Amino acid sequence: MTDWESRYQTGDTPWEKGQAAPPLLELLGKLGADAWGDGPVLVPGCGLGHDVRALAALEIPVVGVDLSPFAMEHARQFPPAGKETYELGNFLNPEWRVDRKFSAIWEHTCFCAIDPTERDSYAEAAAGCLTDGGFLAGVFFLTPFDPGGEVPGPPFGATIEEIDARFSPWFERIDAWVPCAAYPGREGKEWIALFRKVAKA
Ligand SMILES: C[S@@+](CC[C@H](N)C(=O)[O-])C[C@H]1O[C@@H](n2cnc3c(N)ncnc32)[C@H](O)[C@@H]1O
Repeated sequence: MTDWESRYQTGDTPWEKGQAAPPLLELLGKLGADAWGDGPVLVPGCGLGHDVRALAALEIPVVGVDLSPFAMEHARQFPPAGKETYELGNFLNPEWRVDRKFSAIWEHTCFCAIDPTERDSYAEAAAGCLTDGGFLAGVFFLTPFDPGGEVPGPPFGATIEEIDARFSPWFERIDAWVPCAAYPGREGKEWIALFRKVAKA
């Protein structure tokens, strides 16, 4: 299992780009603010919160959750962009989502970061904290962007078939495309998908 806190503490954070994910900005340009519902919107595994603040700048209430104290402490030090908050917590822990409902979820580099054996738990957690009809928008790695190490992942890649299978117990996919905007090195390796929650969880 990855020790995320230690990775932040030692600066071993190749995913940290100092800006919101380009595919999120592409999605925001396409969907606008209204599609995200009344909020709050959840960003699981938000790291230093650049995506949280990009969403919050649209005047949507946003909650970022991450299990790294370092990440949460540093996310809170950025100037507020809107009504964003940060929480230290484990998104996969069912206790974390008791009595919580979100109108939408933005997924970016959390699904690919957790161990693949936890992916069903991720889909269940997402369904469990979304309002009925709420949606999960995510950018997924179809191939890991830095393969080749001795120790596999993270990030762990996924196929479209696997992503659909993991989410299908609770979600229907309503749109998907390969984003035009990407961090250097991730071009053509990512896939944006929008899922709407259709089943109770
Ligand atoms: C690869 S990093 C990506 C961070 C951020 N999304 C970004 O792009 O900068 C994965 C993040 O997920 C967090 N994380 C991993 N498992 C988690 C879980 N079960 N609950 C909440 N956060 C988690 C880690 O602490 C880490 O900040």
